[in-house]
Amino acid sequence: MKRDAVFDLITKEESRQTEELQMIPSENYASADVRQAVGSVLMNKYAEGQVGKRYYQGNKNIDAVEDLCKKRALRLFGLDSKIWGVNVQALSGSPANLAVYVALLEPKDRIMSMFLPDGGHLSHGWHLPGKSVSFVSKIWEVEFYHVEPTTRVFDYDEIGRQAKRFSPKLIISGGTAYPREIDHKRMGEIARSVGAYYLADIAHEAGLVAAGVNHSPFSHADVVTMTTHKTLRGPRGAMIFSRRNKIQVTSNKRITLADAIDQAVFPGIQGGPHEHTIAGIAVSLKEASTSSFLRYAKQVVANAKTLAGELEKAGFDVVTGGTDKHLVLVDLRSSGISGWVAAWVLENAGIIVNKNTVPAETASPFYPSGIRLGSPALTTRGMKEHDMRRIAAWMIEMLRYSARWKIPDGKEKRERFMRKFLSEVSEDKSVADVYKQVRSFAKRFPTFPE
Ligand SMILES: Cc1ncc(COP(=O)(O)O)c(C=O)c1O
Repeated sequence: MKRDAVFDLITKEESRQTEELQMIPSENYASADVRQAVGSVLMNKYAEGQVGKRYYQGNKNIDAVEDLCKKRALRLFGLDSKIWGVNVQALSGSPANLAVYVALLEPKDRIMSMFLPDGGHLSHGWHLPGKSVSFVSKIWEVEFYHVEPTTRVFDYDEIGRQAKRFSPKLIISGGTAYPREIDHKRMGEIARSVGAYYLADIAHEAGLVAAGVNHSPFSHADVVTMTTHKTLRGPRGAMIFSRRNKIQVTSNKRITLADAIDQAVFPGIQGGPHEHTIAGIAVSLKEASTSSFLRYAKQVVANAKTLAGELEKAGFDVVTGGTDKHLVLVDLRSSGISGWVAAWVLENAGIIVNKNTVPAETASPFYPSGIRLGSPALTTRGMKEHDMRRIAAWMIEMLRYSARWKIPDGKEKRERFMRKFLSEVSEDKSVADVYKQVRSFAKRFPTFPE
């Protein structure tokens, strides 16, 4: 029988992930064990409800898996189960955040979160004048805080003053493109000073926090959400940690934040949990508790710092002048390069990064002014600082090449430009030459940790 075309595509994707340099900071390679758990028979089972309190029969093994996952999650982050609860059922980072809002807020309550073009996330709300882009902005009143325009880091005094003026019920920290550590102590103090809950969304940094390489938000936050598939190196999923020692009082009930979160996830916004994913998360949590993961997390940061340093030395505007974690944001405006052009040129050279908005963005999200890159996936492959220097040299060559391509104004002219650009770049000899070098370099490093 002919093989299903889907499997041919999966094989092609496996080659792409092996032969190119995956530098999107939110991506990583999950281990064979994680992938085995996610592809297991657990996907056949319905398990609505919580461990020991299901709405379906036949869940004795599922209960044991989910319980193990929760215990490992609390242990990894050093949390006392009397003080913290954890929900591992949210299907991904965005539904996890939604569940938190459903649990803690009434419709029209106020949220304060990071401005998207400065590096925030859509799931923290996003709207343009007169138009809610993210559903969160339709239901709740969201106001954004910004980075300080010259340093491009947070001015916590200003965030505190804004919180006093706006009086939110929830303050959120975390984002997709902020390269510096967040001061959770300050954010927690600001939230408490205005009677707001503090949600630390550490989707990106989860693995670095687990390893102790970035600061932990737990002493300062009421709720902590994270994705499991970025620096934590698990399957696509999420976890919500929330306080058992804090009581939520609404008009007709008094419950712990942890219970409110469980009820918001199910039956609030989801049906049956994906227990195969929960099993994969459990496997990745055990992997993340090893000394080799600690070495990994340290190397992730060392590699990202090396990339940032090399790009800065070459004259590129590295936002905030470096990084404390796994990601680097480059504002390409002073180099006369479009983020869109750079991302496509780099892809043609086998180097996969994001085009990204930058603080004080002057262009559109589809044709933004920067690129965002990161080290988690490269580091999983065993690459070190000297490898980063080599990769940075290829990137610098390709960024300099990118400067010749200027996106014109006007829809028609732009579409004509895009066709010409994509066809010429795919045939350019200097780009093809870098691609050849990148491919033979990348193939030397195993992708999926065993
Ligand atoms: C800070 C932050 N929160 C939430 C999410 C949403 O995660 P997901 O894509 O799994 O919905 C992301 C994803 O990049 C993120 O960066």
